[in-house]
Order: sequence, then structure tokens, then C-alpha cells
Amino acid sequence: MEADLPDGPQSGTLGWSCPSNIALVKYWGKRPGQLPMNPSLSMTLQEARTSTSITYAYEPGKREGEFRFRFEGREEADFQKRIAAYLKELEPLLPFLSRTRLDMDSANTFPHSSGIASSASAMGALALCLVQLEEELLGPVDREFFWQKASRLARLGSGSASRSIFPQFVLWGQHPMWDSSSDDYAIPVQGIDETFLHMRDTILVVHSGPKKVSSSLGHTLMDSNPFGKVRFQQARENLERLHRAMTEGDWNSFIAIVEEEALTLHAMMMTSRPGYLLMQADTLSILHLVREYREETGIRVGFTLDAGANVHLLYARDDTPQVDAFISTELLKYCENGLVIRDRMGQGPQKIEQ
Ligand code: PMV
Repeated sequence: MEADLPDGPQSGTLGWSCPSNIALVKYWGKRPGQLPMNPSLSMTLQEARTSTSITYAYEPGKREGEFRFRFEGREEADFQKRIAAYLKELEPLLPFLSRTRLDMDSANTFPHSSGIASSASAMGALALCLVQLEEELLGPVDREFFWQKASRLARLGSGSASRSIFPQFVLWGQHPMWDSSSDDYAIPVQGIDETFLHMRDTILVVHSGPKKVSSSLGHTLMDSNPFGKVRFQQARENLERLHRAMTEGDWNSFIAIVEEEALTLHAMMMTSRPGYLLMQADTLSILHLVREYREETGIRVGFTLDAGANVHLLYARDDTPQVDAFISTELLKYCENGLVIRDRMGQGPQKIEQ
């Protein structure tokens, strides 16, 4: 038996709920090992989450790991394949996996077909469960190590998942301004002005179906994008500019940089080879209306986009009544089946007590 594995069988149940996150400075383009071409900065959400529970049985004599994975009560072939590959990849980092049976149940809080990417919350919740399982089998580790390892393992599942492990605002990727920043895992960002700490993120669901081009293909296409190098440098600069705006409480600069990042992400898609468009006509209508509304009213509401057609509206908690009215009268008609998901800056993952 390997020295660092328990000698006797062990079993139990554990679980974690992990939120999704929305990038303000985007990660788009990666190197082998799921390492980013540029650092990114995100806001952790509160409501959009995945809860995952694992019942485990460790047996020292076992030679191969086994698992069952149910998503919202069902075993789906796509998930099975992805989880199998993920667990295999993690074996060198978690040697007990090859001697453990895992029975996993996972569910999202947000509607299944809302077009909201769930890989960040799903891989975050799974990574947290696996790091906790390691702790239950091998004994406690210090908290910093725990979160860092969870973020590293989440990254291997989905790059953006590395950021979901921490509350509030989170940085993933090496940047000279942050000594402890790393391409391997994310870190929390400190010193953000109070004005941004109750940020709202209302998601206008323009299109809920699957994307025509997956994120993983999108990242790969950045390797041959003629603007790639400039983009990676722009992200580093925008990170610095955005952090300054956020420590100074400067909403105007915050909105300008976040919108530039969203439009650049989509510009990179359009200028890939082959190029593609994930925005819909309704996405563009919303973007125009948000800018007009901001100019007319002075209310600080900005947009960001994920790799899809949906629009995230970002604004301060105090402006909620006005922005709600604007959404109802002007924007709702562009949302598929009138679907809007209300979220806000969140406080990070939570252990599910058994
Ligand atoms: O984590 P992935 O591989 O699904 O990539 C996510 C990329 C974006 O969501 C578009 C941007 C980001 O930084 O989250």
C-alpha cells in the first residue's frame, strides 16, 4: 500500500454547493494543461450554483476506481464521458481515486435550458468534493492549501471553474501586479471599493439553446487568430485598468473596460479562422438600448457577455428599482420567453452538511 493512503476501508458522504462566475476581464485562449494565455478577473455569483454530493467507498485492495454520476436524477452519456476523463486525469494528483467508488449526484439551481454555462459551477463543486474527500481519507490540511488545490483541480475540469472557488472578485492567471497570482489556480482580489460589493448581475436570456461553437473550440481557434497576441496583451492591461477603477470606486471606467472586454471577446470570435457569430440580433438591440439608457439617465448600468447570445447587466444594488423598470419596459421583449435570471455578487462555495 502506498504510504500516503489509508490501510483500511473507509466510506461516507459529503457535498458542496459552488456558484458560477462571470468574467469581467475574459479568459479566451489557452495553452496545453488548461493554462490561460492571459490573466482574467471575475465576479462570483450567488444564485446560479451547482450542488454535488458524493457517497464514497475506499478499499485499499481495489485496483480501479468506479463511479456513477447522476445529473438532476439522470445518468447522461455526455456527462459520464467527461467525468470519466476528468477523474482519470486527476489520478496522479489524487492517488486514492483508483481505489475508490464514487456515487455522485449533481443539480443546478438555474433552469436547465437557460443557455447559462454550468461548467464553472459544476467543475467547481466536483473539485471541492474531491479535495474534501482527500482530507477525509488522509487528514486535515491547512485552509489555504485546501482552497488552492480545489481551484487547481477545478481549472483542470474547466478553466473558468478555477475562479468559482472564491467569493466576490477573483483573479486567475499570472500578472506582475499580484505576487501570489498563478496560471495554475485563482486567488481572491482584495481592496475593492465598497460601491462594487453589492453588484447586481441580471442575465437577459436571449437564446437558451446550445452554442453553435463550443468554448473549447473557441479557445483553440485563438491559436491562429491574427489578433491573438494583441488581445492577450490588451487583457493584461485591462486587468490593471479595471483593478484601478474598482479600488477607486470609479463606475464610469469600470463600465467602459467591462464592455470593451465583452465586445473584444466577440470580436475574437468573429475574426477567428473560420469566424463565427454568437450574438443574435436581439443581443445587439439590447446593447444599443443599454448605452442609450445610460446616456439619457446617467444610471450606471453596463453590460458584459459570455460566449453566447445572453446579456449580463451589471449595476449597483441601489439602482435596482430603476433598472428593473427599464428591463420590464424596454428589454424583456428581446428575451426568449421573457426569461431573466436575477443574480448578484456572491459569497462563494458552501459545504453541504450531511
Ligand atoms: O472555462 P471555459 O473553458 O468554459 O472558458 C470560458 C470562457 C469565457 O466564459 C468566455 C470567459 C471566461 O473568462 O469565463
